[in-house]
Amino acid sequence: MDKLLKRTHYCGVLRKENIGEKVTVNGWVQKNRRLGNLIFADIRDRSGIVQVVFGNGTPADVVEKANSLRGEYCVGVTGTVCERESKNEELETGFIEIVAEELSIYSESDTPPIYIKDDDNVSGDLRLKYRYLDLRKPSMQKTLQFRSRMYNVIRNFYFENGFTEIETPVLAKPTPEGARDYLVPSRVNPGKFYALPQSPQQFKQLLMIGGTDRYVQIAKCYRDEDLRADRQPEFTQIDLEMSFVDQDDIIAVQEAFLKRLFKEMKGIDIETPLPRLSWDEAMNHFGSDKPDLRFGFELVDIAEAVKDCSFEVFTKAIAEGEKVMGINFNGCSEKFSRKDIDKMVESVKTFGAKGLVWIRKEANEIKSSVNKFFSQEELAALCDKFGAKAGDLILICSGPKTVVWSALGFLRRDLASKLGMLDPNEYKLLWVVDFPMFEWSEEEQRYTAMHHPFTSPKKEHIKYLKTGELDKIYADAYDIVINGYEAGGGSIRIHDSELQQTIFEVLRLSEDEIRTRFGFFIDAFKYGAPPHGGLAFGLDRLCMLLLGTDDIRQVIAFPKNQNAQCVMSEAPTIVLQQQLDELSIAINLAEK
Ligand code: AMO
Repeated sequence: MDKLLKRTHYCGVLRKENIGEKVTVNGWVQKNRRLGNLIFADIRDRSGIVQVVFGNGTPADVVEKANSLRGEYCVGVTGTVCERESKNEELETGFIEIVAEELSIYSESDTPPIYIKDDDNVSGDLRLKYRYLDLRKPSMQKTLQFRSRMYNVIRNFYFENGFTEIETPVLAKPTPEGARDYLVPSRVNPGKFYALPQSPQQFKQLLMIGGTDRYVQIAKCYRDEDLRADRQPEFTQIDLEMSFVDQDDIIAVQEAFLKRLFKEMKGIDIETPLPRLSWDEAMNHFGSDKPDLRFGFELVDIAEAVKDCSFEVFTKAIAEGEKVMGINFNGCSEKFSRKDIDKMVESVKTFGAKGLVWIRKEANEIKSSVNKFFSQEELAALCDKFGAKAGDLILICSGPKTVVWSALGFLRRDLASKLGMLDPNEYKLLWVVDFPMFEWSEEEQRYTAMHHPFTSPKKEHIKYLKTGELDKIYADAYDIVINGYEAGGGSIRIHDSELQQTIFEVLRLSEDEIRTRFGFFIDAFKYGAPPHGGLAFGLDRLCMLLLGTDDIRQVIAFPKNQNAQCVMSEAPTIVLQQQLDELSIAINLAEK
């Protein structure tokens, strides 16, 4: 084995100031080429790339050895930094090169299955299969370093603000956060299972009962749910909880944290206090509880304006208590063709919408898909309602409010994206507050907690628990939203065991279920629970937003693919029969 040449410099840091110095770099061969008597090799490490030249004074045996170099060989090189003859402006080290005197080849490499270059186009799964090679890309290393610096900012901020970092168990009981649990069988308790935490929710509340006062944890969470570009089955939260506080206190601390995070990571000054929108306002104006405020395109309710029109689709919807709402995509009439609108209709159908009405305001005429039902005067009045000018495109949707909100909320963002309005370097942060306490689940045919069942209803709404008017109950819950992403969420908690019991009952949990799932938790509240509340940020999502990517896998070293698999290690896998026997588990795949 070639001897270890001890590094003096990282490849990417060498500059003209180093000219004349004898240096040693360690890294991988990015590429190599021969030019007459000279051999050039680009050596890469986590910091960047530097050119090494063999020749011009390199001992003959070293040149001979350099002849055998291939891509991704792992090497060490000692030599003298010299000015380059042909400079490379694109490379930070492009002014200099190292004239080699010594070369160690630590490891040879097969031809790599992916090209290790930042702008390659290989498919996601291939990159994940060879993640250890993908990670060699300087951009990936920069991302990992960025994330690591984030940990530092997080820990410093919360430590300085009196938070205690505490690890909570991973082998735990189910925590209801709305997803399915990952279960872990217990060998010594046959037939029994731990659940990996969907969040440390109950533990952090118990820490408040335990007198911790201010808790923080960079916590791994596990959720078996459908994956999307911003979701992973295992992800990381910045999880925190505080005692003797109200919503404003919690928000104030988190705003100070976000201010510091944006400043230290991006040099950006976030103006605080951040704007707040109630959940109702967010839905009615933006069709989403995580509105992207980088652009307008607000929803307009036109029920009043069309309640007596001759278009039955609208009048029927209004009669049934449904919504008729639309968006003025100003200046967009020319930008989207009939074909484009047909595609939009197809996409809103996935949200349950039956269709879209379009109106194009032109200089002398108003065109519309409902020309038959509306006179030019009526269309002009509608355009006024939207504040439309010539060149504007209005899209209208009717139906149950959740359908209209989600269809228009989707179109809003989709069109903004197509129009190139989503600047990743612009940040719009806001709080969405006053969430409904419950939401109706069609699938389960019962009410479920919109945030989680430990969230406190607003004091003035507790009376509706008795009357059963659950739709009127709002919660002391809040989300932090950044550029259309839910970056975090939290709430003030119930600290009264009777109220907690009532909420479980409203959620139709049986007495037995309440006891077995949450008995320990309810009991703890009998011993002087402090008023408390908290929040959890999605650390991966924050990292993703700060780096301006919309793929969460970019900021996780070893992420899972869309099927929750690690394509590199092939987890999850089948296990040995002996292991199953020890766990008293029988596999039954017949149904699947
Ligand atoms: P919540 O379920 O809203 O709240 O989660 C908090 C934040 O975690 C992030 N997040 C995710 N990130 C990546 N992949 C996922 N699958 C995923 N799921 C959630 C989001 C989200 O805003 N215990 C409560 C917090 C509290 O009340 O204090 C909770 O977990 O950014």
